[in-house]
Amino acid sequence: MIYLDNAATSFPKPRGVIDAVIRYLSEIGGNPGRAAHASAREASKLVDRTRRLLASLLGNVDPSRIIFAPSTTVALNLAIKGLLRSGDHVLATSMEHNSVLRPLNGLARLGVTHSLIPCSSSGELDPADILPLIQPQTRLIALIHASNVTGNLIPVDEVGKIARERGILLLVDAAQTMGKIAIDPEKLFVDLLAGPGHKGLLGPMGTGFLYVKSGLELEPLWEGGTGTQSESLRQPETWPERFESGTCNAPGLAGLAEGIAEVLQLGFEAIANHERRLVEVLLEGLSQFPQIIIYGPKDRRSCTGTLSFNIQELDCAEVAHILDTAYTIAVRSGLHCAPAAHRTIGTFPHGAVRVSVGPYNTEEEIHSFVKAIAEIVEFHSS
Ligand SMILES: Cc1ncc(COP(=O)(O)O)c(C=O)c1O
Repeated sequence: MIYLDNAATSFPKPRGVIDAVIRYLSEIGGNPGRAAHASAREASKLVDRTRRLLASLLGNVDPSRIIFAPSTTVALNLAIKGLLRSGDHVLATSMEHNSVLRPLNGLARLGVTHSLIPCSSSGELDPADILPLIQPQTRLIALIHASNVTGNLIPVDEVGKIARERGILLLVDAAQTMGKIAIDPEKLFVDLLAGPGHKGLLGPMGTGFLYVKSGLELEPLWEGGTGTQSESLRQPETWPERFESGTCNAPGLAGLAEGIAEVLQLGFEAIANHERRLVEVLLEGLSQFPQIIIYGPKDRRSCTGTLSFNIQELDCAEVAHILDTAYTIAVRSGLHCAPAAHRTIGTFPHGAVRVSVGPYNTEEEIHSFVKAIAEIVEFHSS
């Protein structure tokens, strides 16, 4: 198989990740923070290590402000629903994923309103477009760091400056950038940041996190056993356990530490350069065909390794199906859980074919992909 769906989840996972999950399940086994025996202590150590690794990746933030979650989606829900109250107004871009737009839409019934900042038809945001949309009650700007459809990066630092100067909080959805770009929330004026463990950080599925700036208060969305202050019926005030009720995905988090170690070993810049080079090769190949429409910015220097396109007259789902069944190539077609982004780039309601590369894809794989597309184009135009 040629796997070109790394924006959904990265594959393959490094050997160290697989070994760490197997080791946890076969040799450790205990529930972190739930007992004093050696197995639970070892489990706690592993989970703490992953938390510290993530904190150091984010410019050495306080590890207690990293809340583990099973996915970016859950982390975004915690940020949005734990923070916003009736009367608050939120700004989000027209490139946001449903993981931001559905919670915001759901909060409308509780009196939280939101407006979308329009992006261009190539998915780009001009930070100046935010200014006229700010209201006195604007409490939060929710910003996708890189589009999961077009791959372009949103200028978080510029938006962060605008937000900080006006006392507005900034939440960043780093689903497509964690592990691909060095992110320092302090330098970017970011107050909350949600990310996955299972995409760019190369960890197992079922891992993700929310970072919340020190001093910022948030209401927990779920309450229960934390392994601490068990005598009290009140949810502990201490971070991160205030937000981590219930047994965590300790095998997944043990694996995530090894994913992070692999990313650090490869280097952010080397990963980003490799992925950009693969997209260049892909673009060179696809642009030979006048029937192919490519979305996103022409200049791909500020983009991740994600690119979407369509073949004129052909349904994107059919293209993905042919790639899968005739060529064993995995891509994702449709709306990518981002209907607003597809409206923005003009591909709603059918969507597009999305190719998303990862650190282990090769130029040969991209050449094979382009060859498959050439055959599909030829077959359908004859
Ligand atoms: C931009 C963006 N936000 C949020 C998500 C949701 O991430 P998760 O699958 O970790 O819940 C995704 C998933 O692809 C995404 O691309």
